[in-house]
Amino acid sequence: MDVTLVEISAENLRAVMDLEVKPQQQSYVAPNSVSIAQHCFDQESWMRAIYAGPAPVGFVLLSERPSPPRYYLWRYMIAGDQQGRGYGTRALDLVVEHVRTLPSATELFLSYQSGPEGPRDFYAKYGFVETGVEHEGELEMRLVL
Ligand SMILES: CC(C)(COP(=O)(O)OP(=O)(O)OC[C@H]1O[C@@H](n2cnc3c(N)ncnc32)[C@H](O)[C@@H]1OP(=O)(O)O)[C@@H](O)C(=O)NCCC(=O)NCCS
Repeated sequence: MDVTLVEISAENLRAVMDLEVKPQQQSYVAPNSVSIAQHCFDQESWMRAIYAGPAPVGFVLLSERPSPPRYYLWRYMIAGDQQGRGYGTRALDLVVEHVRTLPSATELFLSYQSGPEGPRDFYAKYGFVETGVEHEGELEMRLVL
């Protein structure tokens, strides 16, 4: 299935807000409705729906601060019933492609909460490496672009 990043509009807003991770993963990422609201009040952020073929299956929110450059994967999720099909990896390729176009972008950061079914191993498999920095109980990782 072809994976694409699609702008969020009145047409797909409800479908994106309805996407949910597995119940045991809910502490790892905010609901998409909260993330979309936060984006509305943060001029230096960027969001997209993740589509597999014609249907939304996930969501990404990036924090993009160009000066000094700091690019941060703020929220990232694939719906529980769509996980394990390669969509998370393919969409992350597209996110990284986007970040590479931003001013002075040389690295992408994120932070995660550790726990069962948490995302750490997914990001490590992708190439993110621990920085040793902790933010409010979350551990930071970095990908060199
Ligand atoms: C993390 C997440 C985005 C991965 O999406 P996905 O579409 O399931 O990932 P993929 O199918 O591309 O998986 C790629 C590889 O990572 C592994 N993987 C995926 N999720 C994993 C997890 N939670 N723990 C360990 N490994 C995982 C897969 O087994 C696969 O390995 P393989 O290539 O050896 O088969 C998804 O599980 C998710 O939304 N989790 C809940 C929300 C969350 O934690 N978001 C991150 C907030 S920081």
